[in-house]
Amino acid sequence: MTETILTLDKVAVAFGALRAVDGVSTSVTRGERRALIGPNGAGKTTLFNAITGMYPPTEGRVVFEGEDVTRMPPEKRAARGMARTFQITNLFNQLTVEENMLLALRGLSPRKFSLFGKRDFDADERERADRALDRVRLGGRRDTEVRELSYGEQRQLELALSLVMKPTLLLLDEPAAGLSPTERSIVVEIIRDLPRDLTLVLIEHDMDLVLGLVDNVTCLHEGRILVEAPPAAIAGNKAVQEVYLGKPRHA
Ligand SMILES: Nc1ncnc2c1ncn2[C@@H]1O[C@H](COP(=O)(O)OP(=O)(O)OP(=O)(O)O)[C@@H](O)[C@H]1O
Ligand SMILES: [Mg+2]
Repeated sequence: MTETILTLDKVAVAFGALRAVDGVSTSVTRGERRALIGPNGAGKTTLFNAITGMYPPTEGRVVFEGEDVTRMPPEKRAARGMARTFQITNLFNQLTVEENMLLALRGLSPRKFSLFGKRDFDADERERADRALDRVRLGGRRDTEVRELSYGEQRQLELALSLVMKPTLLLLDEPAAGLSPTERSIVVEIIRDLPRDLTLVLIEHDMDLVLGLVDNVTCLHEGRILVEAPPAAIAGNKAVQEVYLGKPRHA
């Protein structure tokens, strides 16, 4: 039986006259791995923001785990199992890998952490942090300050910060952007090895990377769904090729 975890019903996000997302309807099955592709400005990140509540939709509905979350604030959606990573890194540079994990687990800012925080993990926190760090291949870097990590390792740590919250739906916005080929292949391995019951929605421009990782692909163009199909039907799709050929990729 296939169970739906996320439903978007005619979701739109308008910024003044610009309809960055313009009537997107789709649903994602529990355990599915879905790619969201489309040229720059297609509305991919904005759609993530609508799903997570950062910019609530101006029209339409978002249903997560059977509940209408359209007007629910981001932290409540997170508490229900929704996690996302950002296109831009979002870490505390002066703290160690382990301290960043503890902050995420306790939902604290660095200031509160240094003023009131207890720097020791309890047994449950320790186990969760260790498991997430092992998953992202950072088990050996616990005591390293974030600023000492390579860019690729910082992206891996971001993933761990999401995983430690034990999400049921993980939204990844260009997790391999700006990485070297070696770093990319590590991130691909990590994503491939994530638990199969974790539902993934992944924004990624690199077709070679994405088509080998997902079950289905949604291609957005000018805020609308252009094509939604399994990877095998995307690679040779004329409409997809045309929207990508029109605009060069950013670095
Ligand atoms: N906060 C905002 N205010 C006004 N316009 C915005 C805002 N955020 C995004 N936009 C616009 O909405 C459109 C979609 O942007 P979005 O960032 O969702 O695209 P994207 O598909 O993620 O592109 P990229 O591949 O470059 O990351 C763009 O025209 C963008 O300029
Ligand atoms: Mg984007």
